[in-house]
Amino acid sequence: MSVDARIYRIKKTLGGIKNIIGVVSGKGGVGKTTISAVMSLILSVKGYSVGLLDLDFHGPSCHTILGIKDLEYEEEKGINPYRITKNLYFASIYPFVKDEYVPLRGKALSNALIEFLSILNWRKIDYLIVDMPPGMGDILLDIVRLIPNSKFIAVTTNSVLSIQTVGRLIKFIIDSRLELQGIIANMIRNYDTRARRLAEELSVNFLGSVPFDADYENTIGNPQSILGTKLASALKEIVERHIT
Ligand SMILES: Nc1ncnc2c1ncn2[C@@H]1O[C@H](COP(=O)(O)OP(=O)(O)O)[C@@H](O)[C@H]1O
Ligand SMILES: [Mg+2]
Repeated sequence: MSVDARIYRIKKTLGGIKNIIGVVSGKGGVGKTTISAVMSLILSVKGYSVGLLDLDFHGPSCHTILGIKDLEYEEEKGINPYRITKNLYFASIYPFVKDEYVPLRGKALSNALIEFLSILNWRKIDYLIVDMPPGMGDILLDIVRLIPNSKFIAVTTNSVLSIQTVGRLIKFIIDSRLELQGIIANMIRNYDTRARRLAEELSVNFLGSVPFDADYENTIGNPQSILGTKLASALKEIVERHIT
C-alpha cells in the first residue's frame, strides 16, 4: 500500500488513456526519441488523439524534433500538456530545466518523476507515447511500477552492441510480465538480420525496419517536412501494420 497521494493522482490522470507505449532500448543513440516523436506525429495525422511524453530527464529532446521553441504549460489544478495540434499533446520537463543539466539519481530522480507525472492532466486520449531514457535505469524501473499497464516497443540498430543490450532489456520486460509489442530495427543501411534473429530467439514480434535516412537531420524541427521523409514512411507502415 502507498500513502503517497501522488501515486493515486497518477493512476487517475493516466486512467483515461487507451494505450500507453514506452519506447525503450538498451543503448542511447539508437533512435528512441526520433521514433517516439515521429510515431506521435503519424498517429495524430491519422486522426487519433495522441500524447507524447518525454521522460528522458537527463537529455530531453522531443521538443527539438517537433520544433517547439516557447514551451509553456497552461495551469489548471496541475498542468495541461502543451497542445501542438488539435489532437497532439506534449509534455516534457524541458520548460523547467531549459538548457541546464539535471544531476539527479536514485530517490531524487524518482521523486521528480512522480511529481511530474502526478501534476499532468492527460485527457482521454488514444495513445500516450513515452520517450524513455536508455537502458534499465531508475525511470524505467519506476514506470514499470507506476504504470503496470504500459506496453513497450524496443528499438535497436543492427549493431551487435545494441542487439546484446536490448536483448537483456527485453528479457527484463518479459520476466516482469509486461507487454512487449515488439522490436523496431532503426538506422538500417543494408540488412536488419541481427534484429530479426533476436526477435526470433526471444519469441517476440519483429515490427519492422526504419532505414538510415541521411535527409532526416535537415527536417528536424519541422514536423511537416519530417512526415515527408523515408524514415517517416517506413515508420508509417509499421504503425499501420502493428500499432493501430
Ligand atoms: N533512421 C534514422 N536515420 C537517420 N538518422 C537517425 C535515424 N534515427 C535516428 N537518427 C539520428 O540518430 C541520433 C540519435 O537518435 P535519438 O532519437 O536521439 O536516439 P535515442 O533517443 O535512442 O538516444 C539523432 O541524431 C537522430 O537524429
Ligand atoms: Mg532519446
